[in-house]
Amino acid sequence: MIKRQTAIFREARSVPPFWAVRFEVEFPPAPGRFMLADLGGPLREVLFPAAGDAEGFTVWAPPRHPVTQLLPGAPVDMLGPLGRGFRLGGAQRLLLVAEAAQLPPLLPLLEAAPAVVLIIEAPTRALLPPASRFPPTVELHLITQDGSAGQAGTLENCHDGVSPLDDLLKWAEQVCCSCDPLRYPALASRVRRVRLAPRADFAQALVLADMPCGVGACDVCRVKTRHGERHACVEGPVFDLLELSV
Ligand code: FES
Repeated sequence: MIKRQTAIFREARSVPPFWAVRFEVEFPPAPGRFMLADLGGPLREVLFPAAGDAEGFTVWAPPRHPVTQLLPGAPVDMLGPLGRGFRLGGAQRLLLVAEAAQLPPLLPLLEAAPAVVLIIEAPTRALLPPASRFPPTVELHLITQDGSAGQAGTLENCHDGVSPLDDLLKWAEQVCCSCDPLRYPALASRVRRVRLAPRADFAQALVLADMPCGVGACDVCRVKTRHGERHACVEGPVFDLLELSV
């Protein structure tokens, strides 16, 4: 049974390069799950929580996203929570891996384990949130493609030849990724090489897909896995990284 809820838009504030948009709602989504919001466009918008509590949730959206155009107090028709989110299982050492544009769905996990390491890759420094936005307990590794902040290079290949990824994959008890799905095969190969026999769900990957219906009816969000095609909106959007065959 799909929940239909009326969320109330409370505020939007700038957290460059995003906007943080707060909604109050009776049943907020857990990390990695999503809401489908009617914001007046032809299709509902997919909203992932960047933070949440018992009264609501906050979305980090890019500037000009329709969610940033709402007026305080506006009611928003939402379906959800939908999908299958992150499954942490009490891990003590959590590694988060994100491209900067896909970072927001990982933000609710920043304090989800006693030790959390976050690696973010961005094209350039201006597309990274400032380090002060993260809890001081989080160990932050920045990688920029132009070398303007942190290490120069990409997640897989830093120009100084030392990507932090291999050591951190050995260290972690749980890995959660939010990247362009085209990056996932290389990440999966790396996990297999470093961990040899990782358990199921050791590395989980959020697949950001168009999800117009959210209930497995329209087939738009099909994702290839080793067991055939799956619907991101129902069996995902968080998948076992090693089960994906993008
Ligand atoms: S969004 Fe329609 S099947 Fe997934």
